[in-house]
Amino acid sequence: MAKDLIAYFSTAGVTRKLAEKLANVTGGDLFEILPELPYTKEDLNWQNPESRSSVEMKDKASRPAVAGKVDEIGQYDRIFVGFPIWWYTAPTIINTFLEQYDLGGKTVIPFATSGMSPIGRSAEDLRPSAKGAIVLKGERFSATIGEAELKKWVESFS
Ligand SMILES: Cc1cc2nc3c(=O)[nH]c(=O)nc-3n(C[C@H](O)[C@H](O)[C@H](O)COP(=O)(O)O)c2cc1C
Repeated sequence: MAKDLIAYFSTAGVTRKLAEKLANVTGGDLFEILPELPYTKEDLNWQNPESRSSVEMKDKASRPAVAGKVDEIGQYDRIFVGFPIWWYTAPTIINTFLEQYDLGGKTVIPFATSGMSPIGRSAEDLRPSAKGAIVLKGERFSATIGEAELKKWVESFS
């Protein structure tokens, strides 16, 4: 079976921890989705309607640039894509990431962390950016989830 890719975006390290656990559970390769322009603390201030994240998330067409690319995406059949929930959905940088590749025939499985919101409409918002791929609904996890529970989740796809 092809290897899994665990691609993730994380600003405070919460989703990174989850991605690392998922890599342990699947034996997959980790890839960090890094913004070309890193997000500052003020960029992430959701209480300021003018902050970078607020402006980006109000505009579904925003596509914050990603630095770097996955080597040979063709080697992966399944792509787990992780992110913090921003305004009840996936940050638009995840759309940018998906649009960089030909994902035809692949399965994209979203996973997320959040303060409390569920994964919500993330998959619906990501689907138009992953043409030819199957984008599953995915799941929001608590940062403290154990690997045994994550393993059960992963096994539900095979
Ligand atoms: C701009 C912004 C918007 C957010 N919106 C939500 C939200 O709608 N619901 C929620 O439960 N948490 C929200 N959060 C909290 C993050 O989802 C949460 O802290 C996440 O675990 C951070 O993960 P990270 O360290 O990998 O970036 C938001 C955080 C930021 C910075």
